[in-house]
Amino acid sequence: MIVDIINKKRLGKELSFHELDWFFNGYLEGKVKDYQMASLLMAICIQGMSDEETFALTKVFIDSGDTLDLSFLNTTTVDKHSTGGIGDKTTLIIAPIVASVGIPILKMSGRGLGYTGGTIDKLESIPGFRVDLSEEEVMYQVQNIGIVITGQTASLAPMDKKIYALRDVTGTVSSIPLIASSIMSKKIAGGTDKILIDIKVGNGALLQTKEDAQKLSDLVIKIGDIYQKEVHTIISDMNTPLGYCIGNSLEVMEAIKILKGEEKDNNLTQLCLELASEMICMAKGVSKANAIDMVRETIESGNAYQKFLELVEAQHGDLDKLSASRKSKIIKSPKDGQVQAISAIELGKLSVLLGAGRLSKEDSIDYGVGVELLVQVGDSVKKGDSLAKIYYTKAPHLQGIEDIFVIK
Ligand code: URA
Repeated sequence: MIVDIINKKRLGKELSFHELDWFFNGYLEGKVKDYQMASLLMAICIQGMSDEETFALTKVFIDSGDTLDLSFLNTTTVDKHSTGGIGDKTTLIIAPIVASVGIPILKMSGRGLGYTGGTIDKLESIPGFRVDLSEEEVMYQVQNIGIVITGQTASLAPMDKKIYALRDVTGTVSSIPLIASSIMSKKIAGGTDKILIDIKVGNGALLQTKEDAQKLSDLVIKIGDIYQKEVHTIISDMNTPLGYCIGNSLEVMEAIKILKGEEKDNNLTQLCLELASEMICMAKGVSKANAIDMVRETIESGNAYQKFLELVEAQHGDLDKLSASRKSKIIKSPKDGQVQAISAIELGKLSVLLGAGRLSKEDSIDYGVGVELLVQVGDSVKKGDSLAKIYYTKAPHLQGIEDIFVIK
């Protein structure tokens, strides 16, 4: 039976709900082995899945755990998910912004795997910050201060957690139906009314083309319809990293600067404005222009940063102890010219090499290391000008560093 199902998908045939349910639950129970699940996932990657199969798989994932009921909040809830990118610290910025205008934020985030970082690792770079809250603690905190960001509780779509870890190490992450069922099962089980998905495209993203991003967008909207969840999507660039910093504590420091209104306009501030205002529109039914004004005002008044401080305090973080590595090295421009590109994927690789990310589930993270860009795309530079500052603990071999910046 196990091999029959793998062969059926290998030949491009459609699997029934029963077959998917049996196979995936068998994996959770240990009857289906890692190598058999990996084989089916690869067949799915190559042959794809019909919409019906994707809907069935999403249901199997949701039914593997509990579904939260957020009706006690007595208001429209909206959650955001990103397909992941380099320097993507948007959650750290938009969650306090949106919560500070009165929209409750209950965010269950993931750790970084591969070259993309994870919100939970970033928050853990704040000494003491707890990311393992129980369901009761989550509910208490969201009701009391209107914001909570924690790791996914064990009871929420546990099958997705197990499958995602296997996908990550078997080259089966970039499958549109697998991404759609993974994201949507978590969001639906999380109980939110509305969902905003930031679909990243580019060399530092799971999806490389706008066409694939559009296919994922269509699919998540269809899944949302089945569960009466309004889903909006934004397709955003991930050829260039977001903002100036890559690395856990560096990214928290950058997020704080933006929340304090101290950062100039850049690709990160623009995306945060777009995402936060969209969430406000979805939750409050106001116009986009109105929502944009609300975002600007809550930053200017200090309310957004205040909400961030409340979040950190509630989850026992100590911002006074947040720090970057003391050892650093400047990367200089090898020539005169204009910065035409800064490769997200190459920076992702460098940050993992420095210890800011993990390549296998067991790797530990060095929170203080990373890269701070000192230029942005479009800047003119002279030979010898500083391009980036590298924070390290163990002196890195900087081979390939020239692939990061395209200067012409
Ligand atoms: N994010 C998820 O949660 N799941 C995926 O499969 C990809 C990105």
